[in-house]
This record gives sequence, C-alpha cells and structure tokens, in this order.
Amino acid sequence: MPETGNGDTLTVTDNRTGRTYEIPVNEGVVRASEFRKMKAHEGDFGLMVYDPAFTNTASCRSAITHIDGEQGILEYRGYPIEELAEQSSYLETAYLLLYGELPTKSQMDEWTHDIKFHTYVHENIKKFMEGFQYDAHPMGMLVGTVAALSTFYPDAKHVADPVSRDIQTMRLIAKMPTMAAFAYRHNRGLPYVYPDNDLSYTGNFLSMLWKMSEPQYKPAPALERAIEVLFILHADHEQNCSTNAMRSVASSEADPFSATAAAAAALYGPLHGGANEAVIRMLGIIGDKKRVPEFVSRVKSGEDLLWGFGHRVYKSYDPRAKIIKRTADEVFELTGPNPLLEIALELERIALEDDYFVQRKLYPNVDFYSGIIYQALGFPVDMFPVLFAIPRTVGWLAQWREMLEDPEQKIARPRQIYAGATRRSYTPIERR
Ligand code: ACO
Repeated sequence: MPETGNGDTLTVTDNRTGRTYEIPVNEGVVRASEFRKMKAHEGDFGLMVYDPAFTNTASCRSAITHIDGEQGILEYRGYPIEELAEQSSYLETAYLLLYGELPTKSQMDEWTHDIKFHTYVHENIKKFMEGFQYDAHPMGMLVGTVAALSTFYPDAKHVADPVSRDIQTMRLIAKMPTMAAFAYRHNRGLPYVYPDNDLSYTGNFLSMLWKMSEPQYKPAPALERAIEVLFILHADHEQNCSTNAMRSVASSEADPFSATAAAAAALYGPLHGGANEAVIRMLGIIGDKKRVPEFVSRVKSGEDLLWGFGHRVYKSYDPRAKIIKRTADEVFELTGPNPLLEIALELERIALEDDYFVQRKLYPNVDFYSGIIYQALGFPVDMFPVLFAIPRTVGWLAQWREMLEDPEQKIARPRQIYAGATRRSYTPIERR
C-alpha cells in the first residue's frame, strides 16, 4: 500500500508564491508542522491546518489499540477484541493494555493481588461521598470523587516517576468500582458495602452494589461473566473524546487523578458515554415496535437522532456491538427478556435497510445494546456512564503512561483562527 510506505513524499506548490515544497509522507501521514514552512511573505506565520473536532488529525503515535473503522476491526495490542472477550478476564486485559503483553501466570497473580490490595478507599472519601445530595447523579459523584482522590495522594504529582505511575495506576483501577458502587448505594439510601477481596474484580463490584445482609455475596457466574465481557469491550478505544481529554489534561503534567476526572467528565456527555442512557430513553419513547417507522422518519427529517447509531471511526458494524448482542441473549436467559429488545431489533432492522443510514454508513455502536443489558441486570439508567467509566479507566491510564514516555509529546495546545473584532479603542461606559 503506497500510502503507508516510508520515504514517500508529497509535492505542494504554494500558488501565492509559486514555491514548491516536498513534504515527507511516513505511515500515510504528513506532519502539520511542515506547512508552517509555507509563508506568503517575510514575517508570515506560515500555513496552519484547520481541523475542528480533529476529524482528520493524528494527535499521537500509539501502540495500544488498533481500529479499522471500514472493516469493523478492534484490537488491543494486536489481539482481536473477539478473542479477548471470549477468553480473557478484565484484569488480564487491563494488564495487556498497560504493559503491552499478556501476563505470565506469576505476573497475573501479582497483578491481581496488587489490585485487590488497593480496593479500599480512605474513610474520608466515604464521608466526602456522603456529602452529595441524595439524588446526585452517580456520574457527577464519580467525577468529583476521582478528582478528590488527588488530595489524598499528593505523591501522584510525581508523574515523571515510573514507580509512582504504577502505584497511581493500581489505585485508580482498584478504587473505581468501590467509588462507583458507593455512588449507587448513596442514591438508594443503602449503607455502603466494603470491598470483598475474596471475589473477582467484577464479582466484588457486584457485591458492593447488591450485597444486603448475607455474610458473603455470591455473584451468579453468568452475570459476573457478562460484566467481565462488557468491561473488556469498554477498556480502550484509542483517541476518543474522553481519552483525548485525559491526554490533553495530563499533558500539563497534572496528576492522574485530576486527569482521570477530566476524562470521566468528557465521558459523561450524551454524545459519548451517555449515549446508552439516551438509547433507553429513546426506546421507551418509541414504546412499541409498531411505532418504529414513525420514529425513523423523524430521525430522517432531522427532528431526532437515532441514539446508539453512528460512530466517528466505525463506518461498518461496531465489533463490540456484535459481541454485546450475543451477551444480551445470555443475560436474558437468566434475567428474563428486556421488552425494549424487541423495539431495538426492529429499529436496527429498519435502519439497516434504509438509504439514509446506508449512505451515511450508520450502524449500531457499542451503546445500542449495552443499555438494554444494564437495565436487565437491574441498573438504573444514570449508572450507565459509570459502568463505562470503570473499565475505560485502564484505557485512559495506558494512554496517559504512553504519552508521558513519548519524547514527541508536550503540553497540548491547539491553534485557532481568530475570527473576532479587529483592534479598537476602549469606550468608557457612559459613552456606550
Ligand atoms: N442518527 C441520525 N443521523 C446521524 C446519526 C444518528 N445517530 N449519527 C450521524 N448522523 C448523520 C449526521 O446528521 C450527518 O448527516 P449529514 O451528512 O446529512 O449532515 C452524518 O450522519 C454524519 O454524521 P456526523 O455527525 O458528521 O458524524 P460524527 O463522526 O461527527 O459523529 C457521533 C459521530 C457523535 C457518534 C454521531 O454518529 C452521533 O451523534 N450518534 C448518536 C450518539 C451516539 O450513539 N454516541 C455514541 C458513540 S460511541 C461512544 O462514544 C462509545
């Protein structure tokens, strides 16, 4: 494939000056800084490239996650998502994303032990969370509490120290489920349940959510596995909105707790991690399979969005959505079917046959079916972004660590095209 070869060049003629420039093309990419050399006159700043929302700009080199949006391929460190979802565990996948290789047995044992060692939060974190309103959105609670963690671990500011980076990484991965479960119990007015480190990562999470008076909570293996699969699918997705926020904030060398809070805040938005919540609301509004064509017409006339459809990168079926659809069937065998599934399947069927969606390459994304499973598992909709943030924390951390070790990275600071008023003089208020 010539466009990916090294040593290729692009020849550009600047018609303002008649000068010709030869720009290196490596890995199918030209460096934006090359355009700065193209100046219309002496003292000119040089050409900039304009790319609102970064639709065609690579902000980093990364060896973590590979997506082929046209083919519907997703790989973590080269391993297909389908194989990981089938055979791996969330903690093993987390290790892979962070360290680049699957762990050996002894590495896995040590890693599991280290994560379990850090699951408890400081009692003052618990008190901090108790301060939220009874009906506080759990994602707002999570964002605020993760940020607050930075005040408990001032050593986290030593971002150049690899030992400190490892400790903060473990703390964040271990404590996210604890804070998430506390946020859920807070909303329910239930006492917080402390971690049970005899259980698996996901089993312990379910225990902290749902344990009541029993001496030990025993998660149903099929539900534990379903959460495990969902966590693996959500663990990383290269340079998405929240990961970009993580990298951008951390590029100022802010501590990882503050940067993770920023990433989680980005994930909170309905166009990103909040989309599965919007899917459930949409399916509820549609209410009946018979009303699907009417809703699709509204979408086509621009009155609504088909939530859970479309993706910036995937221009074919999101591979995660395929796996989730299968997981849904397994969950429904235990929990009984979610009546919204019938509407979702009909919506997918009609949309995939409709020219509007076909031409724009709009297919179900990860959020189309995940909410339906979460609901069947008993989660309220406002827990959905929280359930996304827990596993994505490892992706944010892997990307953060990679960025800190990348000699080409520095503080993120885009340029702008100034489109405001030209210079003018201040008018005192009485003369305005
Ligand atoms: N419903 C209806 N039309 C859509 C949808 C949708 N869900 N998504 C895109 N389109 C249309 C756009 O209106 C646009 O049409 P036009 O060319 O006539 O103007 C065209 O498809 C291209 O869409 P863009 O908005 O340019 O695509 P972009 O890459 O900017 O947006 C996004 C991607 C934000 C995911 C978008 O598809 C969307 O809003 N989807 C619904 C929300 C959603 O499901 N988000 C979850 C994403 S996955 C995740 O974050 C985990």
